[in-house]
Amino acid sequence: MADWSSLLRPELADLAAYVSARHDGIRAHLDANEAPPLRSPRLREVVERAVARTALERYPDARASELRARIAERTGARPEELLIGTGSDEVIALVLTAMARPRELAAQAVVLTPSPTFVMYRIAARAHGVRPVEVPLDSSWDLDVRAMARAVEVVQPSVVFLASPNNPTGNRLSDDRVQSLLAVAGDALVVIDEAYVDFAGESRRSWRGRFPRLGIMRTLSKVGLAALRVGWLEADAALVGEVDKARAPFNVSATSQAIAADVLSEAWPEIEANVRAIVSERERVASEVRALGGYDVAPSAANFLWIGTPQPAAAVSAELLARGVLVRSFHAAGGRLANRVRVTTGARADNDRFLEALRSLGSP
Ligand SMILES: Cc1ncc(COP(=O)(O)O)c(C=O)c1O
Repeated sequence: MADWSSLLRPELADLAAYVSARHDGIRAHLDANEAPPLRSPRLREVVERAVARTALERYPDARASELRARIAERTGARPEELLIGTGSDEVIALVLTAMARPRELAAQAVVLTPSPTFVMYRIAARAHGVRPVEVPLDSSWDLDVRAMARAVEVVQPSVVFLASPNNPTGNRLSDDRVQSLLAVAGDALVVIDEAYVDFAGESRRSWRGRFPRLGIMRTLSKVGLAALRVGWLEADAALVGEVDKARAPFNVSATSQAIAADVLSEAWPEIEANVRAIVSERERVASEVRALGGYDVAPSAANFLWIGTPQPAAAVSAELLARGVLVRSFHAAGGRLANRVRVTTGARADNDRFLEALRSLGSP
């Protein structure tokens, strides 16, 4: 194979292509924070009708006008404040494409995030030639506002990503701390990534009135529609207009636009019912794991549990995998993550497989 290294962005040498762990023999996929299948006949009917009304010979609507209108209706945003991406992954990439401008005298633009958090902020930053700076969350996995404020002062980020509820820790970052950070974030765009907000109650989009540089990111992936790859940013219309210039014109497929638009306007109660069922399953699994003793189950506001394990997480996750249950271990990061696994709340049968596998590991 040829050597391309002199032409490639040097950061790529440290990155690895994303692979999702889908192998044979797995009976319960609880590693990717997906929802259980949406089985409501009404929802299936809405989806089938949306596919049937899609003109397959035509390019998709480049402006995603109908989908933006439906999101606007459901959230209260204005359509011109919405940037739609192929999942929030693409939204993150588009924001970084548009905002990779280094500040005066700096070699690179900076993205600031707490840690641990969703890995794509760091990966996407590196892939765009932007410097990721991470500030550890405190001992209750909440924002360390003083350390974040200091980082803002020193590194002058262009973008701050805050996932709330946070992945992988599952907690909502507290209101007063997020507001304190917003107050000192200077001219940076602060994005609250609300990928899991459906499981956590209130969105913070109403704060945009007070903090004009606040953006809210959402996705349909966690509530049962991950296959569509639809995510969005709600932010200041002037910024959205600029970032939109970097977007490929037909970035979201016509079928995804149509299905997402119709589900948002006609079948949202079915999605909400599924979310309620996941939340109730999450609490059942949490209490059963706590009852085993030895496991530290953090309170979760998302569709997964962040579990401290009595043995190293690498061993626990390998034992679970041997029993056909795939969870996400964070041992590779070391330190306080060496004994932590993240377990998606799936369908009841899958959750039972997880509980049964965990019990069979024996008492800690
Ligand atoms: C915090 C957070 N944001 C965004 C995403 C990705 O969402 P999407 O499927 O819309 O790209 C995830 C997925 O795990 C996530 O945990």
